[in-house]
Amino acid sequence: MPRFKQVKGLTDLNTLRAYVETLGVEIPIDGEIDPSGALAEPMTIADGYAGRKVAANRFTVLPMEGWDGLADGRPSELVKRRWRRFGTSGAGLVWGEATAVRHDGKANPNQLVLNETTVDDIAELRTLLDPSQVTVLQLTHSGRYARPTTAGPQPRTLYEHPLLDDRDEIDSSTLLSDDEIDELVECFVAAAVLAEQAGFDFVDIKACHGYLGHEFLSAQDRPGKYGGDLEGRSNFLSSVIAGIRGAAPHIGVAVRLSLFDFVPHVAGEGGIGRPATAAGCGPDGPGPDGYRYAFGGDGTGLGYDLTETHELLDHLAGLGVGLVCASAGSPYYVSHVQRPAYFPASDGYQPPEDPLVGVARLIAATAEVARRHPNIRIVGAGLSYLQQWLPNVGQAMVAGGCAGSVGLGRIMLSYPHMPADVLAGRPLDRRLLCRTFSDCTTAPRNGLVSGCYPLDDFYKQREERVLLAAAKRRSRARLR
Ligand SMILES: Cc1cc2nc3c(=O)[nH]c(=O)nc-3n(C[C@H](O)[C@H](O)[C@H](O)COP(=O)(O)O)c2cc1C
Ligand code: SF4
Repeated sequence: MPRFKQVKGLTDLNTLRAYVETLGVEIPIDGEIDPSGALAEPMTIADGYAGRKVAANRFTVLPMEGWDGLADGRPSELVKRRWRRFGTSGAGLVWGEATAVRHDGKANPNQLVLNETTVDDIAELRTLLDPSQVTVLQLTHSGRYARPTTAGPQPRTLYEHPLLDDRDEIDSSTLLSDDEIDELVECFVAAAVLAEQAGFDFVDIKACHGYLGHEFLSAQDRPGKYGGDLEGRSNFLSSVIAGIRGAAPHIGVAVRLSLFDFVPHVAGEGGIGRPATAAGCGPDGPGPDGYRYAFGGDGTGLGYDLTETHELLDHLAGLGVGLVCASAGSPYYVSHVQRPAYFPASDGYQPPEDPLVGVARLIAATAEVARRHPNIRIVGAGLSYLQQWLPNVGQAMVAGGCAGSVGLGRIMLSYPHMPADVLAGRPLDRRLLCRTFSDCTTAPRNGLVSGCYPLDDFYKQREERVLLAAAKRRSRARLR
């Protein structure tokens, strides 16, 4: 017996609205799509230093890496194919994928790296997009999820985390010193200088999904200048941004931010996700503080309170940041919060809630920050699960001030020209709608290149498909 209704089966607006109501959540949904309406409006992004950029419409291609670069950090033909497809998507803004500022910060051996050796190849990626598209390049160090070579993980952390350290088999030897962080700040600044040279309009200082830039924000147990109170926890971001303003004044600065986080989840009975707990830490733990390690969390590990998120966004606005891409949680430990899906990835768990509840949570938090910070353009995310209803919800979000732009992640892998179809008033090609099978996550979790294996003919024909099918069988057995 299926636990939740699939969106595919919610075939008309009334059925969708009635089902959303039974879930006890709110999702803004427009009845008709107006191809020349809210989604077609240009979006001005004002950076306090680099000036204004205008995206032609309200669609953004979200950052989507493919675990498919060359070992030296340059793009492969697979990376170029992805960027070419994003270039013809019709989206006004393209947020380029995670690019490490140095080799030890790569999340996988095939992540892009931006340095003096690779800059010309990364510049070529920009040329594969449409010249009219506004572009962002995401700069990152993967912190506890660093896996720069095939030899295995090489995590670097900021504080001892009572749940994640056990799970990731990490001890205190992975802690970064303040001096090492100072060096890393310089690496981010140097990479931003190169991104400017490569022709990007913005760099994103990645602060989401459990990677290093995100871990700083929950480092209240870290002594010294990069932890403690919110000023200390945001000092890394502040220092990087100040450095970029001095060294590369013509590139805008953006931030991808997990607006809130949840306690890590694990597969429980029947493979269904449940909170991981440890003494003194977790919603059921005996500690008086509940779960303290979720930036933007409400203290229980299972809800959000954006008080600190607003403070951080006010601070970023003061540093001239005019563009933020919203996200939440992490795909490693709370995938249902970060990318709602019907079918879990092989390292995940069955959704503990209807994925539409996760979508509604992301929309509500994004709307709260968009309304509170009108000087920052906020890009929404986590909407692919809406499938055929994505344009109806996206239009309602933009028209209602819930987001400046509609971010498109997984659906861009299966159906990259979806924005062009919507803006031209063409009916959606339903065969290409992402059904959240999660193969694009399962493949890299098993050492294979990412891609939409079920729906993109190019990946359907690749030999990795056989290995992927075997990995999925093993995962199904584990979650049974
Ligand atoms: C295959 C894959 C690669 C991703 N790569 C990145 C990335 O490089 N940087 C990032 O911030 N998020 C990355 N994400 C997260 C997406 O940008 C997005 O937040 C997520 O997929 C939810 O949006 P959606 O529902 O439209 O897919 C990735 C997601 C997937 C599935
Ligand atoms: S593999 Fe394709 S259908 Fe499945 S989640 Fe990824 S993009 Fe969507």
